[in-house]
Amino acid sequence: MKTHVLRPLILAIVLVSCHLLFRHFYVPDDFGVNGKNFTFGFYRAGSIDDWKAIPVKYKGKELCAECHEEQYESNMASKHSIIQCENCHGPAMDHAETEEPLTIDKSRGLCLRCHAALPYPGSQRSELPAIDPEEHNVGMECAECHNPHKPSLEDM
Ligand code: HEC
Ligand code: HEC
Ligand code: HEC
Ligand code: HEC
Repeated sequence: MKTHVLRPLILAIVLVSCHLLFRHFYVPDDFGVNGKNFTFGFYRAGSIDDWKAIPVKYKGKELCAECHEEQYESNMASKHSIIQCENCHGPAMDHAETEEPLTIDKSRGLCLRCHAALPYPGSQRSELPAIDPEEHNVGMECAECHNPHKPSLEDM
């Protein structure tokens, strides 16, 4: 064979061998074993267990109801029923098992995250009642007047 044919041929063989060698060492054994149910078989079976092993951080308020009935009842009877307890108290993680208290944040910032009027037209007209933090009872914690679980002052 002429060298101008032989050289590219050898190069091609070396490249293909490198590719196969790389695959052999780096592609996990359980890759693509699921057959045609998965597009092109490009799927690693073990990833299902990997995902299952990740602990769930947010548990949802139905769980809280079991032990904090009072707060749950207030919350559900208010407009805050559409937000989660964990939105203000942080992810519960294993709180129900360890009963380590969750965070209680009484800062104005907690509420202003959702209730600060934004400086553009339409912000005040949104469904979410907005206040101007520079005007509305400056220097006081919101929870001194509004019950965070049932924030309307009308039924007080
Ligand atoms: C298995 C019962 C149980 C469940 C379920 C539970 N908690 Fe608790 N929680 C407790 C206990 C016990 C304490 C510590 C005693 C206390 O202060 O009431 C506590 C404390 C807290 C505190 C701090 C109270 C304080 O005065 O410092 C917050 C906030 C809280 N839980 C929120 C939640 C939220 C939100 C959920 C749902 C995601 C939840 N809890 C689910 C039992 C539970
Ligand atoms: C809008 C934010 C917000 C939401 C939503 C919220 N909380 Fe709270 N929670 C607070 C704040 C702020 C306090 C502290 C109130 C205070 O001490 O004046 C508090 C206090 C508590 C306490 C301590 C006891 C008490 O009543 O002061 C518990 C327990 C609690 N919350 C559980 C819950 C549970 C359960 C839910 C969901 C059903 C929930 N919270 C939803 C902000 C919130
Ligand atoms: C995660 C976003 C969020 C946070 C944080 C939050 N709110 Fe709200 N708030 C809402 C939503 C959503 C509504 C209901 C809007 C509607 O349906 O009209 C609401 C409604 C209200 C209302 C009107 C209640 C009524 O019955 O008209 C008040 C007052 C209020 N919140 C005060 C507070 C206070 C005080 C805090 C802090 C302790 C707080 N909010 C934290 C989302 C939030
Ligand atoms: C001194 C008591 C007091 C404090 C502190 C206070 N508020 Fe209010 N808030 C009121 C009263 C009273 C009203 C109803 C009359 C009005 O609109 O001024 C109200 C109204 C609101 C409304 C409008 C409710 C609606 O249905 O339109 C929102 C939202 C609100 N407050 C959020 C907050 C937030 C967030 C904080 C903390 C940054 C806070 N408030 C601090 C007394 C208070």
